Amino acid sequence: MDRILSGIKPTGQLTLGNYIGAIKNFAKVQQEGEAYLFIADLHALTLPIDPEFLRNNSRDLAAYYLAAGLDPKKTTIFLQSDVPAHSELAIILQNYLYMGELSRMTQFKDKSAKMKDEAIGLGLFAYPVLMAADIVIYDAKRIPVGEDQLQHIELARDLVHRFNNRYGETLVMPKGELVKVGSRIMSLSDPTKKMSKSDPKGDIYLNDSLEVMRKKIMSAVTDMEARVHYDVEKQPGISNLMTIMSALTGKSFEQIEKEFEGKGYGEFKRAVADAVCAEMEPYKARYEEIVKSGLVDDVLKDGAKRASVVAEATLKRVQKAVGLYNK
Ligand code: TYM
Repeated sequence: MDRILSGIKPTGQLTLGNYIGAIKNFAKVQQEGEAYLFIADLHALTLPIDPEFLRNNSRDLAAYYLAAGLDPKKTTIFLQSDVPAHSELAIILQNYLYMGELSRMTQFKDKSAKMKDEAIGLGLFAYPVLMAADIVIYDAKRIPVGEDQLQHIELARDLVHRFNNRYGETLVMPKGELVKVGSRIMSLSDPTKKMSKSDPKGDIYLNDSLEVMRKKIMSAVTDMEARVHYDVEKQPGISNLMTIMSALTGKSFEQIEKEFEGKGYGEFKRAVADAVCAEMEPYKARYEEIVKSGLVDDVLKDGAKRASVVAEATLKRVQKAVGLYNK
């Protein structure tokens, strides 16, 4: 059975983009292999973050995973920092990724754009090294993510290629995979930008109330074309709302276009808001139940134990391959 792996950083509030592009999909994909899903808390440290916020957010993220239907008996759910082998492996792998390629990563360029060199942490620069370690340490073949993470996975593939060429077949080649619809949900206030945990008007947060979610959708930026039609170039706002609706209801773009032929944007937005609320109402209720149940700590503890067994074996294999004495 193929190993499947993914992770989310516990920074900021989770968005509808994280839900559609990653969490909801993962609940489906877990049926298809041996799944590992973690909370990338070490990655959260690559930009300044309040310790109390990080702690609470890490626990909440685990609760959001469980509420989405992730089954802790099937999927190993754990904190990255509870499996130190990730960090140990990253120390070795950092020697096979190069400054030039790391400095070309879009995420690094975006996040460091407004910083002076003196203020850019080494961790932010080396982010893809730890991410590659996260992936190869589970011999994972399938990496379900949103579109913005594909570049990092491509780099992990380059690393595996390089490493295996030099030391023989040691690491398993991973492959990124996207959801069919919704791998890049855009901001509601500027649909040419990705929805990304940092724009309260353009983001729908999973912890927004249903009323706030509805309001944000009703005031989403649209256009003057006055027809519900999928065209990312000319109608990015409407196309984004259609994507959200399609991802949540399973309706195709053609079906949505037909359903709203001759109807106004107000009516269409109300239907999108209905679809979002229909999905979020039970999801948020399950989340609240899980937080109250206190289940999260046990799940994370058990997950870390199971993950460590696999991670430590891979670490050993790599240490041996590169010639660390007596491994
Ligand atoms: P993060 O925390 O930024 O995002 C978590 C997941 O959500 C997806 N995503 C989106 N999908 C659709 N539309 C959007 N607007 C949107 N915004 C985010 C992301 O693509 C991602 O799948 N580096 C990763 C965490 C990580 C990881 C890993 C992932 C660390 N190690 C190993 C996979 C494998 C990150 O920062 O995701």
